[in-house]
Amino acid sequence: MSTILTPTLTAHWDHPTSFSLATYRRNGGYRALPKALAMEPDKVIQTVKESGLRGRGGAGFPTGNKWAFIPQGDGKPHYLVVNADESEPGTCKDMPLMLANPQVLVEGAIIASYAIRANLAFIYVRGEVLHVIRRLHHAVDEAYRAGYLGKNILGSGFDLDIVVHAGAGAYECGEETALLESLEGYRGQPRLKPPFPAIAGLYACPTVVNNVESIASVPFIIGTGAEAFAALGTERSKGFGIFSLTGHVTTPGQYEAPLGTTLRELLDLSGGVRAGHRLKFWTPGGSSTPILTDEHIDLPLDYESTAAAGTMLGTRGLQIFDETTCVVRAALRWTEFYRHESCGKCTPCREGTYWMVQILTELENGQGSDDDLDKLLDISDNIVGRSFCPFGDTAVSPAVSTIKYFRDEYLEHRKHGGCPFDPAASTLFAPEPTR
Ligand SMILES: Cc1cc2nc3c(=O)[nH]c(=O)nc-3n(C[C@H](O)[C@H](O)[C@H](O)COP(=O)(O)O)c2cc1C
Ligand code: SF4
Repeated sequence: MSTILTPTLTAHWDHPTSFSLATYRRNGGYRALPKALAMEPDKVIQTVKESGLRGRGGAGFPTGNKWAFIPQGDGKPHYLVVNADESEPGTCKDMPLMLANPQVLVEGAIIASYAIRANLAFIYVRGEVLHVIRRLHHAVDEAYRAGYLGKNILGSGFDLDIVVHAGAGAYECGEETALLESLEGYRGQPRLKPPFPAIAGLYACPTVVNNVESIASVPFIIGTGAEAFAALGTERSKGFGIFSLTGHVTTPGQYEAPLGTTLRELLDLSGGVRAGHRLKFWTPGGSSTPILTDEHIDLPLDYESTAAAGTMLGTRGLQIFDETTCVVRAALRWTEFYRHESCGKCTPCREGTYWMVQILTELENGQGSDDDLDKLLDISDNIVGRSFCPFGDTAVSPAVSTIKYFRDEYLEHRKHGGCPFDPAASTLFAPEPTR
């Protein structure tokens, strides 16, 4: 049994009032803030750089470097925008974090704003998660009442307001420039880059956009030290992170562990694949990351090793599928999601995802022709690198990676004249109950 857990952000989630300011403070919360306010802002940025923290929203860009891009002395307002959109299938770490411990995010946002010299920060949350939005409002209110927000925070002379903004629920609004458009009140479609948000972001002013977990990691880095953070993980993927296990696993949930932890270790901790079944395929970081199979069970889950294996660490949303799952059906369901969520701005993604769904539907039903797999790969080729934003590249991951590892299963559907799997056997794709 592995003992690699490093509960930090998740340490007190089982406390009945883990979300309250009082409980957060009792557990050491808001000790990093006075320390940060006593440092020069540039020193805070330097400390985050030294910790090796890389963006937890998927791309893994070094957080301290991103903060350092914000021009200083430019006379413009600066903004911090926390990306709390979290809409990707399989990704489910930020919502529980904000529900269970919103104060760690608020404290992180104050420190980050101080470092980049911002006096206004936004938390952009997916609109459907009303319970999370309410909890964030409550947390921000509590922080104002305690003097952690508003004017002259803790007598430091630093002012900060935080606005919790509810989006309307579009996956594309998690893409940082689409998010900024949406926050400004426009349709949530991406902007051309450059200019990057650090130069012209919200209201054309310098803006840092960071993921919830990235910002929530900052109080630990300032409070406990960059070295303590950097001591965990691998050489280039440092620190701890939340691994979310869902699907055919005995005990699904959030497992906080150093980057570089393997699926085998996480399965040890979570009771393994559900009893009587075996691992068939899995995503390392949500539906946009190409799938892996049981041969990758010992792959270190860090940025470099996952890239070398032809996938990405992404958001560490590990969706586990056992042998009862039809891989074609899974690819179809994911691709339907991307077709539905395509913002429609560019042709390759808007049209390509539509046609991919048509072909995958035929294949799943045992129809179509021998050329269909090549056609799917050809459409994917015409989406990747030709779309306006990274959504297009990720939308093809389910189809391309499932064909790579399970081409025979696709062909089996044709031979069988339909899906050879019993949909009732898989708890994931069981038919909707009739009312
Ligand atoms: C289609 C799409 C959806 C995204 N959704 C999210 C999201 O929900 N949350 C998030 O933090 N980043 C998301 N990202 C990545 C953001 O564009 C951005 O890289 C991230 O918020 C930066 O924060 P980080 O450096 O702290 O990771 C998404 C990207 C794309 C292309
Ligand atoms: S790739 Fe194009 S259509 Fe797809 S979400 Fe991005 S901009 Fe919109």
